[in-house]
Amino acid sequence: TRPLKVALLGCGVVGSEVARIMTTHADDLAARIGAPVELAGVAVRRPGRVRAGIDPALVTTDATALVKRGDIDVVVEVIGGIEPARGLITTAFEHGASVVSANKALLAEDGPALHQAAEAHGADLYYEAAVAGAIPLVRPLRESLVGDKVNRVLGIVNGTTNFILDRMDTSGAGYAEALDEATALGYAEADPTADVEGFDAAAKAAILAGIAFHTRVSLDQVHREGITEVTAADIRSARRMGCTVKLLAICERAQDGNSVTARVHPAMIPLSHPLASVREAYNAVFVEAEAAGRLMFYGPGAGGSPTASAVLGDLVAACRNKLSGARGPGESAYTQLPVSPTGQAVTRY
Ligand code: HSE
Repeated sequence: TRPLKVALLGCGVVGSEVARIMTTHADDLAARIGAPVELAGVAVRRPGRVRAGIDPALVTTDATALVKRGDIDVVVEVIGGIEPARGLITTAFEHGASVVSANKALLAEDGPALHQAAEAHGADLYYEAAVAGAIPLVRPLRESLVGDKVNRVLGIVNGTTNFILDRMDTSGAGYAEALDEATALGYAEADPTADVEGFDAAAKAAILAGIAFHTRVSLDQVHREGITEVTAADIRSARRMGCTVKLLAICERAQDGNSVTARVHPAMIPLSHPLASVREAYNAVFVEAEAAGRLMFYGPGAGGSPTASAVLGDLVAACRNKLSGARGPGESAYTQLPVSPTGQAVTRY
């Protein structure tokens, strides 16, 4: 069988881990896919920074030329941000490639247009790594639970803010001190505003609401409030009420089933709720479905290896489809539901 060719766009913490595992697990991946998978090119901005172990002959600064080559089966986009990622993904579809992306900002902002572009070219778009790193969520919601009816998703989907709130809760640290610690440990985004003001969680909420309810929710429809106003005193008074404070991404279907809401804000969680036990920078997503009942998905929501794990799972899926001529779930069966501006702000979880 011919080898499947993969182009890697971005070779930072996640990309270099994807490349490393593609090499070290080459035989296993070939066995799972049914054909060998070959790294055909790695596009980076600064070639000097590419880690040892990647063949320098594969490295290019011309990402556009790489995705236009025409012989690439799957493009893995781990650059992040809106441009040039969006343009490169669209070009990849036009040249016959499927795409695996870890880009939450782009999926939240432009997911529907990207899905349409994929569909127009008979390609796949997979993005398990865009929400909560290694935790399988996109595939369970799009596939495993698609025959059920999901009514609510409650997510701790930002590790930095969970770490900060956890530190404030357990050690009585102030907000600024806890943020410094999160930054030093490398959890926070380059600009922690995205974490602490809830933008990162809001992007994930938009994606989760879309896939949980098989609809479209855009980023500007997500009500957002971060954790910068949460004080140590707030957390102490939550404790006195038997609760802890978590930054939650909340996606809900209205009781009549005719609209949905998505919002991100600090919430009081009873200590008896499974989400209350999510410590440090871990992520967890609690799903309430009609037939399945209550499910919790838990694990590392960021970091090079966990995120690479999700990317590789998508890569195998996209490669299998390439070989068999099948297509991934796509977005073809969505139903547009109205999105209410904020929903019920006071809810008991
Ligand atoms: N800064 C993010 C977090 C990284 O803290 O969860 C993963 O998106």
